[in-house]
Amino acid sequence: MPRAPAKPPETPPEKPRLDPRALLAELVAWYDRRRRDLPWRARPGERADPYAVWLSEIMLQQTTVEAVKPYFDAFLARWPNVEALASAPLDEVMKAWAGLGYYARARNLHACAQQLAFERGGVFPKEESELLSLPGVGPYTAAAVAAIAFDAPCVAVDGNVERVVARLFAVDKPLREAKRQLRETAQTLLPASRSGDFTQALMDLGATVCTPRGPRCDLCPFAPACAAARRGETERFPVKAPKLAKPLRRGAAFVLTSGGAALLRTRPMRGLLGGMSEFPSTPFRVDFDPSRARVHAPAAARWRELPGEVEHVFTHFSLRLTIFAATLPPPPPDIENGRWTPLSRLAEEGLPTLMRKVAVRAGLIVE
Ligand code: ADE
Repeated sequence: MPRAPAKPPETPPEKPRLDPRALLAELVAWYDRRRRDLPWRARPGERADPYAVWLSEIMLQQTTVEAVKPYFDAFLARWPNVEALASAPLDEVMKAWAGLGYYARARNLHACAQQLAFERGGVFPKEESELLSLPGVGPYTAAAVAAIAFDAPCVAVDGNVERVVARLFAVDKPLREAKRQLRETAQTLLPASRSGDFTQALMDLGATVCTPRGPRCDLCPFAPACAAARRGETERFPVKAPKLAKPLRRGAAFVLTSGGAALLRTRPMRGLLGGMSEFPSTPFRVDFDPSRARVHAPAAARWRELPGEVEHVFTHFSLRLTIFAATLPPPPPDIENGRWTPLSRLAEEGLPTLMRKVAVRAGLIVE
């Protein structure tokens, strides 16, 4: 009888050499020495301001720390507390948000401020579950605010924290499938006190030491417990699923000028760039038909197609916009749903990044 080929021995799942819980004091001590000085962060010995924590966490959803800093400073200078933000007109808040992207966040921010100021006496709830009921506050933000502002025993698990935990335990599943496991594992690491500093320590560790490429394990307080470092495979974790290509949509935007002003309109509240200013545009579609674009022009005019296209990448699709431009003799006529904005004030209009690109391409503003 021929022998069945010997099965390769199964490699047992790698266990961290040391329980990371034994290193929590080192992690928090590392944070005390190396913490990033961020404008929304309380200094050592200071109490965190729940308003500043909440505002920063909403801004930091899907946006980098460096991009958020100037917006956070501007918001706090202009609306220093939740009552001030709640009393601001929504369109002023939307304009101040322009350029940060994901504009539904700004609308929810304003709705949340109003609920807190007008229905809850300006007081932030301390409980993660109550925070979750507020507009725009999902599981990540609820945990971050509860932990950072109130030292509640929760961990906010963002991309940085996922990477730290995935490496610590060498979690061998694509990130998309491992998210829940990573969140639950992070929760098991919580120290008995200083939850807020623990959460921020994990964030800082991920951002400055346990980086996606070239992590500095020599500086890491968790290194003696890290399964991925022990295997010499840090960069393999978290395991990436193959990237799905984004669909390409196309559309057209119409830049109409007259008497030193440009025609803008406000996009519908719901949907992409909801409530933001735009140059009148066609719907953005995969099956966009350029020969029918002019049907959507806001007025009869001698439309010229500008050379090239404006490109922009949204979360779920890439976009190429054809730009049509035309000029009408003054005075600017009334156009339904449109408003004429002096070219000198276009830069303050709070155009979303896509529409700023259109304005630059049409030569209305310089970058
Ligand atoms: N990313 C998201 N929230 C953060 C915070 N509070 N500190 C640093 N980075 C963050």
